[in-house]
Amino acid sequence: KKRGKKRVRVYMDGCFDLMHYGHANALRQAKALGDELVVGVVSDEEIVANKGPPVLTMEERLALVSGLKWVDEVIPNAPYAITEQFMKSLFNEHKIDYIIHGDDPCLLPDGTDAYALAKKAGRYKQIKRTEGVSSTDIVGRILLLLKDAKRNDSLLNGEHQESISEDARVSQFLPTSRRIVQFSNAKGPDPNARIVYIDGAFDLFHAGHVEILKRARQLGDFLLVGLHTDYIVSEHRGKHHPIMHLHERSLSVLACRYVDEVIIGAPWEVSKDMVCKIFS
Ligand code: CTP
Repeated sequence: KKRGKKRVRVYMDGCFDLMHYGHANALRQAKALGDELVVGVVSDEEIVANKGPPVLTMEERLALVSGLKWVDEVIPNAPYAITEQFMKSLFNEHKIDYIIHGDDPCLLPDGTDAYALAKKAGRYKQIKRTEGVSSTDIVGRILLLLKDAKRNDSLLNGEHQESISEDARVSQFLPTSRRIVQFSNAKGPDPNARIVYIDGAFDLFHAGHVEILKRARQLGDFLLVGLHTDYIVSEHRGKHHPIMHLHERSLSVLACRYVDEVIIGAPWEVSKDMVCKIFS
């Protein structure tokens, strides 16, 4: 952007419950519509009143959203609907130019559009919703896992039952190189950078993951995260894990502001040679 030109500030709100790469991708697109992205995280009370109780608390959802590399500012306890009063405070106090939401309908319990006022004011813009993932879908996967584990417990020979649920667990997500590029940082480490390596499953990316990645990054100049394969995770945590498969887990980790690079399918054993090879 040219110097002296007013920076465009955009606002996107949401519940961001069990934050996933669909949310991250929405915020990535929102950021591209302006220079600074302000995110309103809807309060627990407002979610209960409009959708039913969230799984994560305000504090956890806030930590997850703040950890995303495209987010510049957060507004905690945002309302579910853009009311006249809240819209005024967005324009006047927060200096927001545009209010953004996904292209899926967002209706209030009375059937009206939550963004009607913003649209009327000519300050509304839309981004594409990411197909194949939602908080409801993730909760569904967890419930399926619990149901399956229970059923297998009560069966002496569980093999047939197992294959049914494995089919049902297949995610709708299609991993493409384009998506990985969109989420990546283009930069490798500087020649003298201290590279920090951390590995794990990073399944169901949560506030604890954000915190540990932040601390790991503070130990050096460049943070490389190794994500274990689905096979390794399942060997160590049991056959129902991970809930999110390798590519989904990789995108969640890549979306975190403290992460510089990921290994998509890292070995269990760490070697220095491995890290050198990556940046050769
Ligand atoms: N969003 C998206 N793609 C998804 C899920 C959400 O683009 N797969 C967008 C929504 O359109 C919205 C923002 O992310 O602009 C926040 O969504 P949220 O309020 O958390 O609710 P939902 O749309 O219901 O998302 P989910 O079904 O995952 O709870």
